[in-house]
Amino acid sequence: MIKKTNKIKIALIGYGKMGQEIDALCRDSENFEVVSISYRKITDAIDIKGISEADVAIDFTSKDVVLKNIEEVAKLGKNIVIGTTGWYGDTEKVKKIVDKYKIGLLYSPNFSVGVNIYFKIIDFTAKLFAKLPEYDVYGLEIHHKAKLDSPSGTALKIASLIKGLNFNSIRAGSNPGFHEVVFDSPADGITLSHQAYNRTGFAKGALVAAEFIKNKKGVHSFEDLFSS
Ligand SMILES: NC(=O)c1ccc[n+]([C@@H]2O[C@H](COP(=O)([O-])OP(=O)(O)OC[C@H]3O[C@@H](n4cnc5c(N)ncnc54)[C@H](OP(=O)(O)O)[C@@H]3O)[C@@H](O)[C@H]2O)c1
Repeated sequence: MIKKTNKIKIALIGYGKMGQEIDALCRDSENFEVVSISYRKITDAIDIKGISEADVAIDFTSKDVVLKNIEEVAKLGKNIVIGTTGWYGDTEKVKKIVDKYKIGLLYSPNFSVGVNIYFKIIDFTAKLFAKLPEYDVYGLEIHHKAKLDSPSGTALKIASLIKGLNFNSIRAGSNPGFHEVVFDSPADGITLSHQAYNRTGFAKGALVAAEFIKNKKGVHSFEDLFSS
């Protein structure tokens, strides 16, 4: 007999570094349980039956497959959290899918709470510096060598907050995510940086997002949770 619980049922799509991190958190959680895992390997098929039994799907795969995944999940009428980055040029297409199937979708380039506070600090600081032409602004981001997209989704989000900002991107080593913005003048400079120490913060944030989107419709952003 299947044991009934009140836990939120999660379908993981993608079982790489992030999928496994979320799975580990759910195993110790009183609030979430994983009921389906798609793509343990890239060659596997998506687990349609498992997803149809879940409350929310969470996608951490790649830009090459994320749109297809969104459509498959939407056809089942299930809500979805998207952690995958690199697809933001297709945002309008995704909005159409969400509207057509009347589901809820929440996405973010970065599910760390600290980074979402960091976005707010940068936005505030950029507005102060906008009237001071003697300050140049530049950005640097560093991620582990397996990260495929460059610049990172987080860097693109920061660049959308600061006119004229370009990021230099480094892909090497094992850093889970470092972003730095520098406002620099001949007289002084201010450096704002964020360092993720591991992937736990992203995984926790993705589960907070799953709970948030569970009974909602339409496209939402993780930042919506931090509006003051
Ligand atoms: N929003 C955030 O907070 C956040 C945080 C970290 C990462 N990310 C983003 O999340 C995504 C995944 O990151 P990750 O570190 O977990 O990557 P990863 O370790 O490479 O895992 C990706 C997973 O998706 C599978 N996959 C990749 N391409 C696929 C395809 N075309 N068809 C089917 N399955 C495919 C992989 O299978 P194989 O293992 O067989 O290749 C693996 O299971 C990336 O876009 C990354 O930038 C976002």
